[in-house]
Amino acid sequence: MKIAVLGTGYVGLSTGVCLSEIGHNVTCIDINKEKIKHLRQGILPIYEPGLEALLASNITAGRLRFTTDRKELKDKEIIIIAVGTPQREDGEADLSYIEQAAKDISGYIAESSIIVIKSTVPVGTNEYIKKTIEKECGFSIQIISNPEFLRQGSAIHDTMNADRIIIGYENKAAAMKLQEMYRPLNLPILLTSIRSAEMIKYASNAFLATKISFINAMANICEAVGANIEDVAQGMGKDKRIGEAFLKPGIGYGGSCFPKDVEVLHHTASLYGINSSLLKETIEINESQKDLLVKKALIRFGKLKGKKITMLGLAFKPDTDDMREAPSINIARSLTSLGAEVVAYDPAAMINAKGILGDKILFANSVDEAVWNADALFIVTEWQEFQQLNLPTVLKKMKHPIIFDGRNCFKEDRIKACETIEYYSIGRPDMIVGIA
Ligand code: UDX
Repeated sequence: MKIAVLGTGYVGLSTGVCLSEIGHNVTCIDINKEKIKHLRQGILPIYEPGLEALLASNITAGRLRFTTDRKELKDKEIIIIAVGTPQREDGEADLSYIEQAAKDISGYIAESSIIVIKSTVPVGTNEYIKKTIEKECGFSIQIISNPEFLRQGSAIHDTMNADRIIIGYENKAAAMKLQEMYRPLNLPILLTSIRSAEMIKYASNAFLATKISFINAMANICEAVGANIEDVAQGMGKDKRIGEAFLKPGIGYGGSCFPKDVEVLHHTASLYGINSSLLKETIEINESQKDLLVKKALIRFGKLKGKKITMLGLAFKPDTDDMREAPSINIARSLTSLGAEVVAYDPAAMINAKGILGDKILFANSVDEAVWNADALFIVTEWQEFQQLNLPTVLKKMKHPIIFDGRNCFKEDRIKACETIEYYSIGRPDMIVGIA
């Protein structure tokens, strides 16, 4: 099939690359000339494991092309819109990019092409975009809501092995055409109304975010009563009705989806006069979770002025360079406002972090450099590199062998194997080894 994908962010690129990989003829279109120039050379604007290799092989195979020229839309059977919908200050989704994309394509699309919206948009937006395009182009079009559930860091795997494909439609023939596009993936497909499809995306993300806030709330109770959240989560997760996924406690969820989508859904509910205090609580627990490591450090040290704190990890999660809504931002700002000297290291997100945190903190080139002479070490992102650290070697380089682990990277036996260590984690008993 001849497919166009508008927008070359995470979702657009992963979708375009995967659809070409399964044999379609894909043209990715973006207004950013520089980005398109790089993509043509096989250079990615984002860090995403596995994506670069697939990009290169599909460009070479002639199935994947990049352009800024909207005239290329003319002969496309399916046009997928995957532009960003960031959050506005007032909590609503910023639809300006998708509105612009709708207007931009109107002069170039054929009557037979199907418009597929992959961008996460509030309920009702697909209908609004359909009207916007029809007003501009003068004929009626077919629109499909086809939300995406891929995670950064495993975008290719998640696209190729999605748990389900949601097709929200009003025209049966259009829905069948999209089913045909996805057929090579052999995945479960759910056909719904357009509004239900839009809602599925928000409800799924809100549920997962709530699951995280729930386990974080339980972790805080575990700390108070002397239980261990890892055992508790494992015990809960064995119940198939609960499930093991997304029960990992920590310093809160970040990224480009959960924070924004929960806020937008909460906002939508309030627009309709619906009580959504559950979502508000999810957000509030997440916010307070971000302060946890600093609170624990304040209890331990009394004050943080003049203390050298090392932060390992800046990205909102491992295997990405994305800093959007990363808990590390709050932590770095709190620490510096309390007068601490902060040195940070992240395997991928340092350039993006510098753009946000600027000269507020220092950036080291390695773990070794970052931990040298530190009063305490904060583990902020659970990169493999950090999980596999040789703890005794790291601790020897520090001024004090104190770790505040926001991601529960180390099991009890690894802490016990250290000569001297003070180890504070999330929802587990504090561990003090070798200190009288
Ligand atoms: C998420 C959804 O998983 C995906 O379906 C949707 O399309 C986009 O948003 P992503 O933001 O890439 O994907 O990352 P994800 O792996 O879901 O993690 C989100 C945040 O939750 C991270 O900050 C992560 O650290 C945190 N998290 C996740 C937890 O704190 N505990 C968990 O158990 C799982």
